[in-house]
Amino acid sequence: MIPPSLLQNTWRRLTVSANTKTIRRTLSSRTDTVAKMHQLFNSQITKEMNASQLYLSASIWFSEKELTGMADFALNESLEERTHALELIDFGLKLGFPVDLEALPAPNAHWPSIEALWVDLLEAEKKNSASL
Ligand SMILES: [Fe+2]
Repeated sequence: MIPPSLLQNTWRRLTVSANTKTIRRTLSSRTDTVAKMHQLFNSQITKEMNASQLYLSASIWFSEKELTGMADFALNESLEERTHALELIDFGLKLGFPVDLEALPAPNAHWPSIEALWVDLLEAEKKNSASL
């Protein structure tokens, strides 16, 4: 994930450059950077929402098997991941950075065993951590 301070500073620099009408080629280069940052920013929101959906699905699966402790844990994780997405959205709105929500695929909902479910969650965590 792009550190919020880096995003904010780059956006400010671009705004200052645009306002002062500095070298056009430099501005064009920075515009490409901002477009890439925009894509990465929105992609990270989608990843956080996907993680939230997966944990919610896991919570439902645990609940159906009356594994209430695991269900509660997964539900809390789902809410935490959703909070991450909301914090990014809030940051984008405060900065005036475009926020575009993307479609979410249905999360996995059928696991053959508890172990398979936890492996799925672990792999999702590894994948999400790698994108930060
Ligand atoms: Fe997260």
